[in-house]
Amino acid sequence: MLILGIESSCDETAIAVSRDGREILSNCVLSQIDMHTIYGGVVPEIASRKHIEVIAALAEQALSEANITRKDLDAIAVTYAPGLIGALLVGVNFAKAAALALNIPLIPVHHIRGHIAANYIAFPELEPPFVCLSISGGNTLILDVRDYTDTRVMGSTRDDAAGECFDKIARVLGMPYPGGKALDDRSMGGNPNAHPLPRTKVSGYDMSFSGLKTATLNIIHNAQQREEPLDVPGLCASFVSAVRDMLVPRTMEALNAAGYGKLAVAGGVAANSHIRNSFEQECAKCGAALYLPPLSLCGDNGAMIACQGYYEYLAGNIAGQELNAVASLSPEKGSYEPK
Ligand code: KG4
Repeated sequence: MLILGIESSCDETAIAVSRDGREILSNCVLSQIDMHTIYGGVVPEIASRKHIEVIAALAEQALSEANITRKDLDAIAVTYAPGLIGALLVGVNFAKAAALALNIPLIPVHHIRGHIAANYIAFPELEPPFVCLSISGGNTLILDVRDYTDTRVMGSTRDDAAGECFDKIARVLGMPYPGGKALDDRSMGGNPNAHPLPRTKVSGYDMSFSGLKTATLNIIHNAQQREEPLDVPGLCASFVSAVRDMLVPRTMEALNAAGYGKLAVAGGVAANSHIRNSFEQECAKCGAALYLPPLSLCGDNGAMIACQGYYEYLAGNIAGQELNAVASLSPEKGSYEPK
């Protein structure tokens, strides 16, 4: 089954073709980062406008790289939630028009379920159930992936997402947007104990990052106001170490409680070298299988949507022309329910 997967929830227009879910025939990603860098973050209106400009040409490119024509497609999958509403609407409306014109099914995909599915592409042997830590610019979730379309939330951030904190701190340090990778690079060789930063504790498997973000920003602002030198690698290393201490032990506890012995990590922050190393060590200690997708599949892409679209299709999650974009939606409710 050939599925065209469309992703436009934030600042990447991404379109891919999958065969029977896990085989990716093409994966085209057009990042808008350059457009948003001067503003230090994503400007929603610019993101929507840019998606409109490129989406049709990118779909043609994805078909051509897959060596197929639009008539070969069996279904169109699209991210319909969560994300920037204007940006989502571009992908959803394009997908609706394509499905209508080609008279093929329209499959709505939850963005987080897409991130989880990046692991199905990278690891052909991986099957649910497993625990997945999804860490991106907008979400931080510990998920019980019971089945391809049955995802339960075990824990989530109560305030900021981990990626959002990386981006905010990097911006104040003068690094380009999105700052996660730049901050990761600057932390190399820095002393992780240079600054004692808080590790917030909340009940269960929930997490909280806003206290850490504020404490780190205060250190930067104080140094700036007093015109004192700042040990940037040390601060970056201390911040990453605090994020890691809040993510890794909680996730390992959740993995232990679920008893699956399989952990997957997903989302843009899964590219972080310290977090990857730490999970490798912890999983080796307890004998759990660890699935870390390659960096190319950690960020937003169309392949993960085309892949998850296949499993949503098999589960009967198909939409009609009434499909609308949804800005905020738990992955627990990710299976599309027509109104
Ligand atoms: O999954 P993604 O591409 O988009 C969302 O769905 O949000 O994630 C983007 C996030 C950004 O916050 C970015 O700074 C962060 O992933 N990121 C990183 C690294 N690479 C990207 N954060 C920490 N370390 C990295 N190496």
